[in-house]
Amino acid sequence: MALNRLDKLIALNCNVSRKDARELIRDGKVKVNGKVVLRAEELTDSSLDEIDVKGFDFTARKHIYLMMNKPEGYITATKDENKKTVIDLVPPELGRKSLFPCGRLDKNTTGLLILTDDGEFCHRLVSPNHSIYKTYIATLSMPLDAAAKKLLESGIALKDGTVCKPAKINYFTDDYTFTAEIKISEGKYHQVKRMFAAAGNHVDRLRRIQIGGLRLDESLPEGSCRELTPEELKMIFE
Ligand code: URA
Repeated sequence: MALNRLDKLIALNCNVSRKDARELIRDGKVKVNGKVVLRAEELTDSSLDEIDVKGFDFTARKHIYLMMNKPEGYITATKDENKKTVIDLVPPELGRKSLFPCGRLDKNTTGLLILTDDGEFCHRLVSPNHSIYKTYIATLSMPLDAAAKKLLESGIALKDGTVCKPAKINYFTDDYTFTAEIKISEGKYHQVKRMFAAAGNHVDRLRRIQIGGLRLDESLPEGSCRELTPEELKMIFE
């Protein structure tokens, strides 16, 4: 059960500002379970209470899409007995019963993660058939030589024999740090780490910065999330 202020829920579900939501409540246009409610701070649970806003279809917005800047230490699962999950980071006003992380990031991988309650959307995003590139910044423990880079770019075979699709690599070094930007369109288990391991290297740190055409909003603090705008949603598939 997730209790939220009524004005917050109306703003979110009717796509209006908090100020407009308070006005709708003040004007007597909002009913909760059949009764007019005049207090914006009334606590309600949108999954249990019936909320009716005159002139709006409160249930029109079927799905929610969140961008999270994932910190280290959280697993991309909905529930776990012992470990902290990314769902624990979602504030109640953005939470939905059926919210889940779309795709997988390792516990120690940081950066862009999308959470949604839209299974079809998620399938499109993660399915290798749709070839949505995910961009990662990998901090490597040693230099990436030209032969290894070429191998990754032509489709490297992992140590278990699985052959990956060709990756796009940009490599940067200042002789002390070895950083690769890698774009892949698949999501095999530990894929980036295993690709660099197969190329004789090691990933010390991994951060996802982009999915399709959507970049991580770097002003979003680690551990926070916010709703994606309709324009941002489109950018994923561009
Ligand atoms: N590849 C990895 O190895 N780890 C991730 O978290 C994501 C991609």
